[in-house]
Amino acid sequence: MTTSERTVKHDPRNEAASQPGADPRGILIVDLGTQYAQLIARRIREAHTWCEIAPPRKALEYAARMNLAGIVLSGGPASVYADDAPEVPRQLLELGVPVLGICYGMQWMSQELGGSVQGADKREFGRRAIHVERAQGIFEGVTGDTLVWMSHGDQVVRLPAGFEVYASSDTCPFAAVGDPARGFFGVQFHPEVSHTQLGTEFITNFVYKVCGLKGDWQPASIVEREIEKVRALVGTDGEVVLGLSGGVDSSVAAVLVHKAIGDRLHCIFVDNGLLRHGERDIVEATFKEHMAMDVTIVDATDRFMGSLKGVTDPEQKRRLIGRDFVDVFKHEALRFKSAHFLGQGTLYPDVIESVAAHGGNTAVIKSHHNVGGLPKDLNMTLVEPLRELFKDEVRAIGRFLGIDARIVNRQPFPGPGLAVRIVGEVTSERARILRAADHIVTSEIEAAGLHTGLWQYFAVLLPLRSVGVMGDARTYEYTCALRVVESSDGMTADWAALPTELLRKISSRISNEVRGFNRVVLDISSKPPATIEWE
Ligand code: XMP
Repeated sequence: MTTSERTVKHDPRNEAASQPGADPRGILIVDLGTQYAQLIARRIREAHTWCEIAPPRKALEYAARMNLAGIVLSGGPASVYADDAPEVPRQLLELGVPVLGICYGMQWMSQELGGSVQGADKREFGRRAIHVERAQGIFEGVTGDTLVWMSHGDQVVRLPAGFEVYASSDTCPFAAVGDPARGFFGVQFHPEVSHTQLGTEFITNFVYKVCGLKGDWQPASIVEREIEKVRALVGTDGEVVLGLSGGVDSSVAAVLVHKAIGDRLHCIFVDNGLLRHGERDIVEATFKEHMAMDVTIVDATDRFMGSLKGVTDPEQKRRLIGRDFVDVFKHEALRFKSAHFLGQGTLYPDVIESVAAHGGNTAVIKSHHNVGGLPKDLNMTLVEPLRELFKDEVRAIGRFLGIDARIVNRQPFPGPGLAVRIVGEVTSERARILRAADHIVTSEIEAAGLHTGLWQYFAVLLPLRSVGVMGDARTYEYTCALRVVESSDGMTADWAALPTELLRKISSRISNEVRGFNRVVLDISSKPPATIEWE
């Protein structure tokens, strides 16, 4: 009997999970200090499977409240025999569900079950070929050699009873091991990173073949579940206010809440005068007209511009915009006297309980402002229907709900809007100039079909004036910088090379069509050391 038969047939929770609104069966990821916990989670979610990340001290609590089908123990920087090794509860191996240990997770599991681990002379780091010896379990359908990403100092030198070798490499005889009877597997390499050729297949095999899951974490069931949850929370007469920015998160959150409670949702859209071309119109057309939702549009341009007058410090600009937003929103929200709930598009990465591998505080690079960052003193109960989801899942749900593609596929746009793309003082005139140039940049890149591979593409206004010539006249105008980057999460980014012809066209259109710019420059800085936005 294979482990998949064991898990699928004998677990009565399989039936329970198919009932509407029931907790989906899922995988618990125990974060043992890895930088890759979210990556592991995204791979599992890409296999349409529910999962949650927990720190080791809370792992049993999470396991008890989840509808648990399997556990992944992540990698981590410690040594299993070091003083600072995370304390992992042994009971995780006694819950009767399959376990996949990755790197440190494999070493901890092996040691715990009676094997032994030793430090190697030097750290093994980089791509290595492993030879698959047993095409079963996580290796079902995989034979021969394949490339994997290794990053470890220690390794398992003696296997616990019941374990067999599944793959080996020149330097690592126990590159992958398993005890099929218990559904326990360990890999010394990192299947979650893209450098591991068949990493997705290994993780999917663990989820489907070893844990016996069916991949039913799909937009339809997610939407159904979230609607049920909103209804249960808000009740039959509760009302919700929600700050709609037109970004994908607040938009999808709004549509979900609207599906759950209809007109008892009141959306508030604040135009701060720092929006991009056509943004307000798209929101109005999509939500107000097309979806018939209750949306209040507040034009607060004068207020924001008044506050920003004469301010040049980037952090001060961010603070003022955040403050004004809260004030305006609060004023509008309080008009809905019977609304005691506040809707927000908070995503899963913002709520994961993180493990500080090395302690200490992180330096504040930029104080982020989101439309979601709303005042606590409003005393409202939060309604956060995207709290369990990653961005790509939110987009999938947005498409499923039929939201305008211009919103669902929208590139990230910071809460402070164009203000962080106008270096120095923000004025209505500078916002007008930048908005016009930005519209040229985005529409040309989109018309060339290049936007799908890009993280962000936009224009920046540099208050640096230089001399130019137009017709026979002298000009003395600002500089426009093009910022076009590739990234998978915004944490790091590479500048993207656009075709010369496209750059030529964008540059010529900006200089010819936008009064205020006579020079266009290209930003070829990666992050780090630069950041994506200029302020
Ligand atoms: P940086 O400039 O820090 O930006 O490299 C990383 C990503 O975050 C976005 N960003 C923001 N998003 N509120 C937001 O919601 C903000 O205040 C903010 N500042 C930057 C930025 O567009 C990029 O995608």
